[in-house]
Amino acid sequence: MANLEQTLVLIKPDGVQRGFIGEILGRFERAGLKVTALKMVHAAHEDVDKHYALTEEWMKGVFEKAKTKYETKGETFPYTDHIAYGTDIKNGLVAFLKSAPIVAMVLEGEQAVSLVRKLVGATEPASAAPGTIRGDLSHDTYALSNSQNRPLRNLIHASGTVDEAKNEIAVWFTDVELYKYEHVNDRVQYDPSWFLG
Ligand code: PPS
Repeated sequence: MANLEQTLVLIKPDGVQRGFIGEILGRFERAGLKVTALKMVHAAHEDVDKHYALTEEWMKGVFEKAKTKYETKGETFPYTDHIAYGTDIKNGLVAFLKSAPIVAMVLEGEQAVSLVRKLVGATEPASAAPGTIRGDLSHDTYALSNSQNRPLRNLIHASGTVDEAKNEIAVWFTDVELYKYEHVNDRVQYDPSWFLG
């Protein structure tokens, strides 16, 4: 029995500006994911603000991940306060995402949340594995983005968990914008009787 999940992807302004809408969408389609919603948006502040929920857990996560990356490169992480760091990152992300058009989409498939995160790659493009979207199409670093006081230009946002995906899909799409339809891949990939003659 397939465990079909839905996940939200945003192609951030750098992905749109660099002409990667088709490239990025194509990678998800090639992996067999079904597009169930898709639109270009020049986002309002409220939507982006809702999207990045500023919880202490989120701020800690952002802080610890960046700190670990600096330390594994032998660099000193010059910040000490996760609340100040997380708040700055969130404010920067909100300004970045509403600065120019982005593309929002919902993708569906077996364990789609983790599959999409694997295809997207690590948060810091310079550390993302070759073959991933961030690893192949960008080389930005925490150090450069922080020294320029701006968010990472890492092309994409993808939901981290099934619950996060549910909340994020509701931020960007209304019910009528979410399509339920049969795709030929549904049969080929998930129907156990399909190749039985
Ligand atoms: S990710 O990609 O979702 O796993 O990223 P995560 O580590 O959870 O980070 C949360 C978001 O913060 C964005 N971001 C940064 N974090 C730390 N330091 C810097 N300089 C920074 N710049 C951006 C990171 O890209 C995540 O946003 P999304 O939109 O989820 O990619």
